[in-house]
Amino acid sequence: MFVKSEKVVFDYHVQNELGEIEHTHRALDGVELNIKKGDFVAIIGHNGSGKSTFAKHINALLLPSEGTLYVKEMDTKDDAKLWDIRSSAGMVFQNPDNQIIATIVEEDVAFGPENLGVPSEKIAFHVEKALSTVDMSEYAKHSPNKLSGGQKQRIAIAGVLAMHPECIILDEPTAMLDPSGRSEVLDTIHYLNKEENITIILITHYMEEAVDADYIYVMKDGKISFEGTPKDVFVQVNKMKNVGLDVPQIVELATLLRNEGVSLSKDVLKVNEMVEELCQLKLEN
Ligand SMILES: Nc1ncnc2c1ncn2[C@@H]1O[C@H](COP(=O)(O)OP(=O)(O)OP(=O)(O)O)[C@@H](O)[C@H]1O
Ligand SMILES: [Mg+2]
Repeated sequence: MFVKSEKVVFDYHVQNELGEIEHTHRALDGVELNIKKGDFVAIIGHNGSGKSTFAKHINALLLPSEGTLYVKEMDTKDDAKLWDIRSSAGMVFQNPDNQIIATIVEEDVAFGPENLGVPSEKIAFHVEKALSTVDMSEYAKHSPNKLSGGQKQRIAIAGVLAMHPECIILDEPTAMLDPSGRSEVLDTIHYLNKEENITIILITHYMEEAVDADYIYVMKDGKISFEGTPKDVFVQVNKMKNVGLDVPQIVELATLLRNEGVSLSKDVLKVNEMVEELCQLKLEN
């Protein structure tokens, strides 16, 4: 298992101005999950359900208050393993502007390997490879400021890639992007998963982005509420509504059509599947 979460509980201690603990907020309440190496996993859930808090546990930015989280069998509480864990599991956040520090793209991508102590003669090679993987080589000498949101996120991903992680956790990486930026980023992470065998953990509010995952975890109130393949999860329209989430529009459309007596197979999640089903109907009639 690449990530193994055993009854992970996390309490935020909220302090007042005097630094005294005013109250405790339980953000994770016994999270159990297992993610295999090479999987593409989506974590979905309503605002405040604990997704980001959980994500930060995977690269030891936060440590469990109770329970244990293992990354490649390393307990994240083990100080001696901290750098091993951080270099195995890199994080990409929502806002590309908060993640880019340098004034030249290639310097920004070099930042991670420099911090990890990679010898400087090797850094240029890692940076070049990372930029070419996200298809941004031609921007190596550019200033990140002038790039589009999608391009900035690809630079942020390159920055993580330059450290050769086995896993990348992306916390709503497309939330601030326009549709073309969103598809650039999604294509990039699917490419990394398929071609480079990088484990992907994608946190998203867009159900359409979760449809292509191998497996989905649905969070509610700090717990995994239910889980399964996209088909297992999205056919449960009522369960999804109960946790405050919508199903992908195509699933909604399929439900409406079925209510009107159109016979569709159960598993229509994507536009191309819907097109196939509808063409089939036409042939039959
Ligand atoms: N630094 C903090 N101090 C106190 N409480 C916090 C802190 N960060 C998050 N919380 C609370 O913990 C709970 C889980 O928050 P978290 O950010 O993990 O949720 P989320 O699922 O990522 O939400 P969103 O979809 O809005 O990003 C929420 O109730 C939130 O208000
Ligand atoms: Mg969040």
